[in-house]
Amino acid sequence: MSENRTATLTIDGNTYEMQVRSPSAGPDVVDIGKLYAQAGVFTHDPGFTSTSSCESKITFIDGDKGELLHRGYPIDQLAEKSHFLEVCYLLLYGDLPSAAELEKFETTITHHTMIHEQMGNFFRGFRRDAHPMAVMVGVVGAMSAFYHDSTDINDPRQREIASHRLIAKMPTIAAWAYKYTIGQPFVYPRNDLDYASNFLRMCFAVPAEEYKVDPILSRAMDRIFTLHADHEQNASTSTVRLASSSGANPFACIAAGIACLWGPAHGGANQACLEMLKEIGSPDRIPEFIARAKDKNDPFRLMGFGHRVYKNHDPRAKVMKESADEVLDLLGIENNPILQVAKELEKQALEDPYFAEKKLFPNVDFYSGIILEAMGFPTSMFTPIFAVSRTVGWVSQWKEQLTDPAMKIGRPRQLYTGETYRDYVEIENR
Ligand code: SDX
Repeated sequence: MSENRTATLTIDGNTYEMQVRSPSAGPDVVDIGKLYAQAGVFTHDPGFTSTSSCESKITFIDGDKGELLHRGYPIDQLAEKSHFLEVCYLLLYGDLPSAAELEKFETTITHHTMIHEQMGNFFRGFRRDAHPMAVMVGVVGAMSAFYHDSTDINDPRQREIASHRLIAKMPTIAAWAYKYTIGQPFVYPRNDLDYASNFLRMCFAVPAEEYKVDPILSRAMDRIFTLHADHEQNASTSTVRLASSSGANPFACIAAGIACLWGPAHGGANQACLEMLKEIGSPDRIPEFIARAKDKNDPFRLMGFGHRVYKNHDPRAKVMKESADEVLDLLGIENNPILQVAKELEKQALEDPYFAEKKLFPNVDFYSGIILEAMGFPTSMFTPIFAVSRTVGWVSQWKEQLTDPAMKIGRPRQLYTGETYRDYVEIENR
């Protein structure tokens, strides 16, 4: 469609024209960048429900169709036919790699998986009962003190090295955060293992015996990484972009993203969802919880349900549900009571008019926790695993923003409804 389309806004009889831009997919956008200069007004959109914050070519979600594309490729095909490091290459560089490009990329990532030996001291400064996300925020933020040679955001080569270091070292940091909380020694990465197998071994191996990675579990782990890799301008990605807009170094920006992901409304939902399923405990208690979720006076929400963008099934949840069945079948716990509660809860919720009317479907977090618990992870490790995966999305979006000519420091305005100008009152006159 032609680019000279305009929208007009009339305020108090004055009319202002704004450019309408057409995307390659999704809704048109009205460019309001000059509105304040022209009309002296702000737009107001808490939660950014109707606001495009940037131009991006990385990921596209069609919420009505329940479609998720990474550089145009649908997530269900990537989950079935690709693997996490290939998806990392796709997100970072814009297209699927040749065999030679993939081998070079995987070799590079594999050889960045160790962390500076002195960083081990950071873990030991935490209490043993620290939440692994607290450890990850701290240790990732501290990376800027150890990898200072890849903090110059204006140097493309340093940006690339920082991206590789973050993708490669996040599994090691997450695994060591876990080992520290359970009082077991850190397990070093191995260069003869693939990304997912390396992570499982660093989490579950002990020096006292050989650890053999089950290929079905590492495939499930790799698929979980693939499904969580990137998701447009979600809260944590927007946090990374906003932090980066000030020129902060990549490690500080990703630490900010980890902090935001931790919230139960976002990446913390997988932990909250499994805790909710355990609290429900049995299918006969489901109606009680569905009633609470529908009660306007009750802040309770069904964790793992609903999404700002998806108003149809989250395509990741569908793949995750298949994976849950495979993993539990392999582990001989296909009759897992939590999975039974989850399946019955999904059935009852989807049949309930409230959820249908509000277009609330299970999201990516609904089934991921069941798989992770079946694999032996404590609930406190669910969001760290999400962070390991989302690191590639964060760094891809971070890199894209740094090369966007329209990029400037993010500085929203506000609707001020506080006190207007007034003079100080001496204490004796109050
Ligand atoms: C992730 O943004 C992303 O892309 C995130 C993510 C990613 O990959 O980065 O997809 C990962 O964060 C998935 C979402 C995980 N969070 C949860 O599962 C927590 C439970 N879900 C809700 O908190 C909620 O659905 C959100 C936060 C996910 C979305 O919130 P919105 O878009 O702001 O929607 P809303 O809160 O305005 O809800 C719309 C209506 C409300 O009712 P009304 O005020 O209109 O009467 O739906 C209701 C809500 O009360 N509602 C729910 C509900 N979610 C929304 N009611 C019961 N249970 C729920 N889960």
